Amino acid sequence: MNILGIESSCDETAASVWSDGRILSNVIASQSVHEQFGGVVPELASRAHHKTITKTVRQALIEAGMNIDEIGAVAVSQGPGLMGSLLVGLSFAKGLALSRQIPVIGVNHIDAHIYASFIEHKEVYPFVALVVSGGHTRLVYADQPFKHEVLGRTRDDAAGEAFDKIGKILGLPYPGGPEIDRLARGGDPAFHDFPRSMIRDGFDFSFSGLKTSVLYYVREKGEEFTRKNLSHICASVSEAIVNVLTVKVMRAAELKGTQNVLLAGGVSANSVLRSRMKQLADEHHLNLMIPSIEYCTDNAAMIAVTGALKARENLFDDLTMKPFARIGEP
Ligand code: KG4
Ligand code: ZN
Repeated sequence: MNILGIESSCDETAASVWSDGRILSNVIASQSVHEQFGGVVPELASRAHHKTITKTVRQALIEAGMNIDEIGAVAVSQGPGLMGSLLVGLSFAKGLALSRQIPVIGVNHIDAHIYASFIEHKEVYPFVALVVSGGHTRLVYADQPFKHEVLGRTRDDAAGEAFDKIGKILGLPYPGGPEIDRLARGGDPAFHDFPRSMIRDGFDFSFSGLKTSVLYYVREKGEEFTRKNLSHICASVSEAIVNVLTVKVMRAAELKGTQNVLLAGGVSANSVLRSRMKQLADEHHLNLMIPSIEYCTDNAAMIAVTGALKARENLFDDLTMKPFARIGEP
């Protein structure tokens, strides 16, 4: 079955075609309108999705060399995310399903980040997954598809949110995550010892203390010092975040007795996190799966591949399917 994936949960309008175990196209229309506001403006995001979704889906079909008649099911991001944005993707998917008489598959956006690993790696269970995105930080264990045990989650800011808020404090453009990553490359990670909250306590995370500590640090040191040492500060911030993430994911793999570890979500594009995890995986003989950058940040290939896994498990939805803004909502 050929599956069309649609993603519109935040500020990327994306469409992708999956066929016979392969991604044939992966089209992403990013919304630059939010940059001037230093964060995503929900109302503007919905409007931009509405404007670009038809074009994006058409482009994904063209790049896949496929006609709409050849699509057997449409998978769509159902939540969590911005309600207005989700409604655009869901309504589009339902319209398509109705007109083509094909099934619709609702995909949990966080699950999709996890299963993005199976675009390029062999599907294996059990696994421990570290999901680190702009909205979520969780450690998940799964011994079969879609049976997830949440080992830990963030108590406050998500890892990506922490990167972005710290970027704002440092005067960097939005989103701060990729900027901090870029600047950190020339810096000394030991320049300043920022706090590693909850590093020894269980599997939950907390990043708001780090954010506050950066705020006080740059206030105390002043603008000129901060500007002059920006790459060192970025390297030290990255080190603090990556330190906490890697310690917990390694401990989770050990506790669960699995060698299969995967990274998921936008922050798994971070170069320090990727290289540290690779180093740890080599030392501990782990089967580490990290998606290519294009499958780490929001994309529709991850929705299509998760849709394909759900189709295999016979997990279809119908046209009464509803979007959800937060996990646990009905
Ligand atoms: O998964 P994603 O694209 O969207 C959500 O579902 O939230 O994640 C976006 C987050 C943003 O906070 C962004 O700053 C962060 O991922 N991010 C990074 C990097 N690339 C994206 N954070 C650190 N280093 C990066 N290279
Ligand atoms: Zn995401």
